[in-house]
Amino acid sequence: MIEYDKDAIVPPYITEYLREKTVHNDEFLHSLERYAEENSVPIVEPETARFLSVLCRAAKPKKILEIGCAIGYSAIIMAKAAGAECKIATLECNADMVRTARDNIKTAGYSEKISVIEADAKDYLSYIDDDEVFDIIFLDGPKAHYIYMLDECVRLLKKGGIIITDNVLYKGMTADDNHVVRRKITIVKRLRRYVDMLMENKELETAILPLGDGVTVSVKI
Ligand SMILES: C[S@@+](CC[C@H](N)C(=O)[O-])C[C@H]1O[C@@H](n2cnc3c(N)ncnc32)[C@H](O)[C@@H]1O
Repeated sequence: MIEYDKDAIVPPYITEYLREKTVHNDEFLHSLERYAEENSVPIVEPETARFLSVLCRAAKPKKILEIGCAIGYSAIIMAKAAGAECKIATLECNADMVRTARDNIKTAGYSEKISVIEADAKDYLSYIDDDEVFDIIFLDGPKAHYIYMLDECVRLLKKGGIIITDNVLYKGMTADDNHVVRRKITIVKRLRRYVDMLMENKELETAILPLGDGVTVSVKI
């Protein structure tokens, strides 16, 4: 029986079913999942990991930008699913995480494909040139700062490219005041604003999925 977060947005019996159906047999990824659990490193939930993998296989991206690398788990999943020519740049501001991610990426055999960049994403995005356009941008970093990153992400996205954002429903708090925990009010307000910005952006069409902790998928039109 999986241990569930009591505030999860999806009922436990559905999550249990989804996880039973989306098991994988990659031993190295299992070891990273165990490491994340034991060291309280937040990584994408299994359903979200599978969703990322499927999107990468379908979109066949040549260039992916990830914001929030942690130990390299989601970057490795995307590298496995995207074609051999795909390059991934992943931003991470925590030096220990950067070291661990680089080690993990090397062990997984993806050092040529994935570059871990130690930087504060909020500052770094504005330094990336317009000609560095990406096919997929995965936002999984500082939730309260997504509102400051969206314009840069849209600028750096190819037409037809996709922005995927994780944790947008934030244990249901984004959707309903009754779920909001007091100390999370600022982050919740900013996530609500972020969702509004996505929905109002004329260059994007966005779907909000109640998957994992809530995921948006936005295509540049
Ligand atoms: C949810 S974790 C990323 C998990 C990873 N995408 C995965 O699923 O394997 C978020 C990461 O973003 C990093 N982070 C937070 N603020 C950041 C910022 N301003 N710039 C770059 N990285 C940041 C954190 O240090 C943390 O490792």
